[in-house]
Amino acid sequence: ASYDMGGHDTYMHKEMHEQAEAVDRVLRGRIEDRFATVRLGGLNLDAREARSIRRVKILGCGTSYHAGMVGAQMIEELARIPADAEPASEFRYRNPVVDPDTLYIAVSQSGETYDVLAAVQELKRKGARVLGVVNVVGSAIARETDGGIYVHAGPEVCVVSTKCFTNTTVAFALLALHLGRIRDLSVADGKRIIEGLRRLPEQIAEILRGEDEIRKLAGEFAHASSMMFIGRVRGYPVAREASLKLKEITYIHAEAYPASELKHGPLALIEPDMPTVAIVPSDDLLEKNRAALEEIKARSGRILAVSHAVQEKADHTILVPQNEPELDPILMGIPLQLLAYFTAKELDRDIDKPRNLAKSVTVE
Ligand code: G6P
Repeated sequence: ASYDMGGHDTYMHKEMHEQAEAVDRVLRGRIEDRFATVRLGGLNLDAREARSIRRVKILGCGTSYHAGMVGAQMIEELARIPADAEPASEFRYRNPVVDPDTLYIAVSQSGETYDVLAAVQELKRKGARVLGVVNVVGSAIARETDGGIYVHAGPEVCVVSTKCFTNTTVAFALLALHLGRIRDLSVADGKRIIEGLRRLPEQIAEILRGEDEIRKLAGEFAHASSMMFIGRVRGYPVAREASLKLKEITYIHAEAYPASELKHGPLALIEPDMPTVAIVPSDDLLEKNRAALEEIKARSGRILAVSHAVQEKADHTILVPQNEPELDPILMGIPLQLLAYFTAKELDRDIDKPRNLAKSVTVE
């Protein structure tokens, strides 16, 4: 591709810095203040159909799968529909039961990932209703689905996805709000989420303005041979995506675990040479997360917290502006994109084209 780099040294850096503007675009023209909801023109799902959904199953690969994990939690929280995400390839190889009351959602930046497309085709053949959350307009997955949401992130060139991940999570917030307001989400909660959505672009810009602080931290992690990422419920998909991003562009081994699973195994790995990145939002699970930090500290583990307030048990805290609890995951991953990026810079990696990876995998 030959898009202008606009003074940035890599597409990844350029695309991270486009995120405030990109989120503005995914919101534009969609908020309906009068009904405390959003209008999603391409969804092709009327209110009666939306009410009859009993489950939501989200399918994607790589970073899009992680965006789907964030989305599943938002749908469950705001619309109170049981929802989960699964890698598209796993889904299609396990001969899944296709259920007429389930809404299936395929997530893809490119709209061309073969495993996702094949899952959509199999679902359609079995009569399922499938929506797409896709970036590239008119792509194969966009054409095969019954309707969906374009995420309007703009062209993404770097192999690893940043702005499209963020916009996809915002698109899911819109879908969750839309489904919620058709079902049982109150007007007051609808308004609260809308106000939160409107704050996102400026909060993202604020995080990006703080990149120098993260650049300074990166030197500390460049020489780790392995890193642990932990989060709980809303923080867990954030940890998964941050760990993927780090390994993709730095080649440092990284693992992501739910904070609650630490004591069931990975705590054995904790030592000074195995730093932990912990997602610690100021939500109803704050005390539980603080307890996990204490367990790591007691084993002399180094901790970098991504949080809304300084965490005393952590060696460093990256402060992130607070939004509504349901929307916090959208913001908490952004400093960790920057951390992966600056760590890869320290190591002089080929950031836009990591070894062995391709931007879109259109073969099996
Ligand atoms: C490849 C890329 C990943 C991407 C995944 C899904 O594996 O290297 O960065 O997340 O495909 O791509 P999609 O276009 O479907 O979102």
